[in-house]
Amino acid sequence: MSLTNTTHSYGALAKLFHWTTAVLILALFPLGMIANGMAEGLRDPAASVTEAQIAQTVALFSAHKTLGLAVFFIALLRVGWSLTQPRPGLLNAENRVEATLAETIHWLLYGSILLVPLSGWLHHAATTGFAPIRWPFGQSLPLVPKSEGFAELMAGLHLVLQRVLLAAVVLHIAGALKHHVVDRDATLRRMLPHGGTAPQPPKQHKSLVPPLAALTIWGAAIVVGAGSGLFGHTSAPAAAQAQQDIAPASGGAGWTVTDGSLGITVTQLGSPVSGQFADWTAAITFEDPAQPGPAGQVDVIVNIASLTLGSVTDQAMGPDYFDASAFPTAIFSADLEKTAQGYLADGTLTIRDQTVPVQMPFQLILDGENAEMTGQLELNRMEFGVGASVTDAATLGFGVDVVVTLTASRS
Ligand code: HEM
Ligand code: HEM
Repeated sequence: MSLTNTTHSYGALAKLFHWTTAVLILALFPLGMIANGMAEGLRDPAASVTEAQIAQTVALFSAHKTLGLAVFFIALLRVGWSLTQPRPGLLNAENRVEATLAETIHWLLYGSILLVPLSGWLHHAATTGFAPIRWPFGQSLPLVPKSEGFAELMAGLHLVLQRVLLAAVVLHIAGALKHHVVDRDATLRRMLPHGGTAPQPPKQHKSLVPPLAALTIWGAAIVVGAGSGLFGHTSAPAAAQAQQDIAPASGGAGWTVTDGSLGITVTQLGSPVSGQFADWTAAITFEDPAQPGPAGQVDVIVNIASLTLGSVTDQAMGPDYFDASAFPTAIFSADLEKTAQGYLADGTLTIRDQTVPVQMPFQLILDGENAEMTGQLELNRMEFGVGASVTDAATLGFGVDVVVTLTASRS
């Protein structure tokens, strides 16, 4: 069998590309649907989730993403190769309607094997956490922002494009079988590994209708998808970020917080996943003493539901983790001290129903009536019963890094 195509037969390489892609795509559909169904189960705040379920979902999703990317790179090679090759003409080219339909579907298939995995990849790169691609080239993409809004858009596009691909594959297979069973021509045989010789195709009609029809179908699918809400809405995290709301502090010789951030980083499956609480309030009294000693007091109330944590935000709110509906706030109350090394907030942190002694060293820059503060501490999530059923640190690390920054002005 020749490696290259002729005007009436597919070469070995074109056949290899075709059937490898076909097998991968036929596997990727059930894999994606099952993995997505399981992931939705995990995100349900009411569900009680076991470690085995998380591991299984991650394994399926990782396989889906990795095989999907294999399709993408094979498709790049395939398109490059086909541009150098003659294309065997359609055997029923004189039937203009069927030929246009077949060619439109070929355009949809060629476009889809690039666009479907690309949209999945962009979705993956824009979000954080959850199932990694099993390869050594990293999980992010240059120029792709970590943005839940963009990730949701790409997830919607992935969904719409893959439905167009599914419809095209179904029609494509139906067409191939019709040629074989009804027309009894060599269309299917000449694509099979040892398909033998095929007749010379009739004269082909060149037309722009098939590529334009394919573009119209994609456009219509995106419009219908957007209309039926497949692209989600401006993500809650993005909206929460935009209206970051920090209420002024109150009490004593107080300070008013004018800006700030409260971030956490957890380690999921060995990769860091960072998030922010958009809504928290801090009541601060502070007087910088000349010598080490007491300096004031702070009370911070954190709205747990305002956390965004990449793609696992909903999961983090569930009963096994923060259980936001039962325990909507976390409270940090501490005495502020000046120490020989710097400053210290020494108090207690209450998350869920657990109150744990906590010490947070912080750096302070005082400039007249304004102050800038940065503090870090590491918490052990197990002490607060967060993710208590996930006892394997490789799945979800025990340590949670907390970083607080704020600027405040004297009230
Ligand atoms: C030709 C290749 C691909 C096909 C045919 C495909 C197909 C699918 C299907 C059928 C689903 C389930 C949708 C549902 O349940 O309604 C899905 C979901 C998903 N796929 Fe793919 N996929 C491909 C490539 C990729 C790649 C390369 C990635 C990432 C690197 C990816 C990431 C995802 C993600 C993250 C979801 C879940 C979307 C969500 O959360 O809404 N896919 N895909
Ligand atoms: C599932 C993913 C599949 C994709 C993405 C796909 C894609 C394509 C594309 C793009 C072509 C045009 C090739 C070219 O002219 O360069 C083609 C041709 C062909 N495909 Fe598929 N295909 C798939 C599955 C199948 C299956 C399952 C069958 C068999 C039942 C099949 C049978 C054929 C045949 C017979 C041709 C040759 C058509 C002709 O010569 O006119 N394909 N396929």
